[in-house]
Amino acid sequence: MAFRRQIIRATLQNAKRNSFAQLARAGGRCFSTASPSLSAATADAPPQLPPFDHRPKPYKGPSAEEVLQKRKTYLGPSLFYYYQKPLNIVEGKMQYLFDENGKRYLDAFAGIVTVSAGHCHPEILKDIVEQSELLQHATIIYLHHAIADFAEGLAEKMPGNLKVVYFVNSGSEANELAMMMARLYTGNLEMISLRNGYHGGSSNTIGLTALNTWKYPIPQGEIHHVMNPDPYP
Ligand SMILES: Cc1ncc(COP(=O)(O)O)c(C=O)c1O
Repeated sequence: MAFRRQIIRATLQNAKRNSFAQLARAGGRCFSTASPSLSAATADAPPQLPPFDHRPKPYKGPSAEEVLQKRKTYLGPSLFYYYQKPLNIVEGKMQYLFDENGKRYLDAFAGIVTVSAGHCHPEILKDIVEQSELLQHATIIYLHHAIADFAEGLAEKMPGNLKVVYFVNSGSEANELAMMMARLYTGNLEMISLRNGYHGGSSNTIGLTALNTWKYPIPQGEIHHVMNPDPYP
């Protein structure tokens, strides 16, 4: 882990030293630079986001500092944040996010794939609004066609005999289910988990997890962490 951090730090320092523009001028292999036909002046300019036809609404909510203070007061310290001045995100549209000052950011992260079709996609919004106006929730002890339709749609895309769907709310729950199924099938408690893997934050999946940023010193059960085959050949 320390070695990996060292490599990342060295790579970042290197990247800083050799700016993209320098790389482009030197004819280096760099995928994010302007084309060689552009003038050096253009290559030196900071990259600009392409035009986008959406104006964020004027934001009248609490400032980043106020949100941060309230989080510190009312939320547990395990909810950490990135950057000394974390972004206060107030609006999203397709592949972009906007902060409290209307500044636009390209979101290459998309809520860790939880909004895989981008932010506030009009077709998805339309369906959400229509359904919410009709019925917001039905439990599985009654019938509703949506869960069966969705399961059928997913099953049709799956290979082989993977035709039964079990819906969960999170990645942690999915891995909890996988662990339970494996234990049910084998009758064993013990598990092997690869180092450097993240598997969730529930009591079982935090045991499987072997990344120091997400690992806490709680009893993890019968989990054996083993070396990962070299992921950087
Ligand atoms: C590989 C992997 N497994 C499990 C999880 C846990 O998912 P969740 O945060 O939805 O519980 C994540 C979340 O980032 C993940 O990336």
